Amino acid sequence: MTETRRIILDCDPGHDDAAAIILALGNPSIELLGVTTVGGNQTLAKITRNAQRVLALCGREDVPVHAGAARPLLHEVETAPEIHGESGLDGVELPEPSVELAPGPAASYIVETVMAAEPGTITLVGTGPLTNLALAARLEPRIVERVHEVVVMGGGYPETNWTPAAEFNIWVDPEAASIVFDEPWPLTMVGLDLTHQALCTPEAEAGIREIDSDLARAFLGLMAFFRKAYQQNQAFEHPPVHDPCTIAYLIDPEVVRTRVAPVHVETAGRLTTGMTVVDLRRQTASEEGVHTRVATELDHAGFWRLITEAIRALG
Ligand code: BDR
Ligand code: CA
Repeated sequence: MTETRRIILDCDPGHDDAAAIILALGNPSIELLGVTTVGGNQTLAKITRNAQRVLALCGREDVPVHAGAARPLLHEVETAPEIHGESGLDGVELPEPSVELAPGPAASYIVETVMAAEPGTITLVGTGPLTNLALAARLEPRIVERVHEVVVMGGGYPETNWTPAAEFNIWVDPEAASIVFDEPWPLTMVGLDLTHQALCTPEAEAGIREIDSDLARAFLGLMAFFRKAYQQNQAFEHPPVHDPCTIAYLIDPEVVRTRVAPVHVETAGRLTTGMTVVDLRRQTASEEGVHTRVATELDHAGFWRLITEAIRALG
């Protein structure tokens, strides 16, 4: 286990983003300072309300939610209703938020929080398109050397899910992703090669079924919708629960194994825009001067134990 990680979670909930919020709130080695939102799985208005509703479900409306970019840097936003439904979190009734959104846009909140904290103490986690993180890095370049680490769910090598070459989060805003991957901060890419191992199987759900709480029932309802969506759209029997893998990596790097590898994002491919180009050649295996890592191997039972414990801890 590692030291407590103080994080800002930039997300677009989203069934698996909701799972990331739950894991971050329910594990004692994570301190969730704030949630920032970005248009992706659904429109910004919908997914921001979803973030607030998930916090309400967990009894943690004290965590501030800052809305961020409604659309990517250069393109229109592309949403994913076939995976997350019309609301972005279809499948369950969730409580309505009882607190207002926090003032100030996501990028400003990220900058202010990182600049106000001791250097090296804040980790940024991105589980949606990377627009807000790119804007924050441009708004205040000094955050790049001040954050502890950036952890991104996105990309793959060679797994993809949205185009033959690209994963959804990177595809939606490839220019932002390119900025974020190219900044010299330590960055860990938790891509589809890892998250396609995080399947919500009946064994994974078994421990959660034993928990008698509204949160456990809501989680299982969300997973039921997610399962059907993945069966109908991506030929998966059980859904890959991508986004909480970023949090699991921070909690225990033995659960999400990584290796060093240079990564760059294709922004101008004829067929490959949004591709994460991961250099796995032998001659690039040296860690020297490489600021990026990619996730490789998941301890499936360990991952689902973390999720189950978090749901139980939140009551
Ligand atoms: C990513 O895309 C979104 O639909 C999920 O929330 C996840 O962040 C997986 O490609
Ligand atoms: Ca997401």
